[in-house]
Amino acid sequence: MNRFIEAHDLTKTYSRGAEQITALNNVSFAVDKGDIVSVVGASGSGKTTLVNVLGCLDNPSSGTLMINHKVIFGEGKLLSEPALTKIRRATFGYVFQKFFLIPTLSVKENILLPSVFQPDHTPDDESLYQLMDMLGIARRENHLPSQLSGGEMQRVAIARALIHKPEVLIADEPTGNLDSKRSNEIKDLLLRLNQENGITVIIVTHNPDIAKIGNKTLELVDGKLMG
Ligand SMILES: Nc1ncnc2c1ncn2[C@@H]1O[C@H](COP(=O)(O)OP(=O)(O)OP(=O)(O)O)[C@@H](O)[C@H]1O
Ligand SMILES: [Mg+2]
Repeated sequence: MNRFIEAHDLTKTYSRGAEQITALNNVSFAVDKGDIVSVVGASGSGKTTLVNVLGCLDNPSSGTLMINHKVIFGEGKLLSEPALTKIRRATFGYVFQKFFLIPTLSVKENILLPSVFQPDHTPDDESLYQLMDMLGIARRENHLPSQLSGGEMQRVAIARALIHKPEVLIADEPTGNLDSKRSNEIKDLLLRLNQENGITVIIVTHNPDIAKIGNKTLELVDGKLMG
């Protein structure tokens, strides 16, 4: 569906003591279903702030965010926390730069973690193993995160983000800690998820090679969208 995510004049300010920081400055754009959107810009330009607002993890100070033609933020609307949680769970999978795997849980348990919070979405064994297979971590199912390479940890984090079959995958620097070979693997994986599974991908990256896979690029400079 077209214009799956619409942002109109999104602004986000933070106060740090007496200082006001404008992390996002009147940002407007649309994401269509099936897009790969690359979010680029210098450190501190507002990339994480932007994807956190798009992913409904944070609210803008002003402006409007629409998802699937419904107003999520703005126009005087304030969704309740349970309503936001529902949208997050139904729509998004999140991959964070620092993986956030639980060190005492195995690979399989980490991947299944989201279903603890939504028991009615517990995947059957077949789809779990299919996902681990696709990500090349099936043979690691009983390993702890400390027994994995950085690339494997990142793929476990991606599996966890995908286990509930989100419509949109948001990945903030998913290759930030990886060497070029592992980065390439993640890049191919994101492309495959998009092409074969139809997942919309929003990816924050400093890596020009990864940014190239985007059919759209959002370039931020001091919180403003270029171009
Ligand atoms: N919780 C916060 N409180 C105050 N200021 C913040 C907060 N989060 C971010 N900022 C500021 O907002 C601006 C944008 O930060 P953001 O994390 O979005 O940048 P970024 O583009 O993701 O940077 P990086 O590439 O280093 O991850 C920065 O100036 C940052 O210091
Ligand atoms: Mg960031």
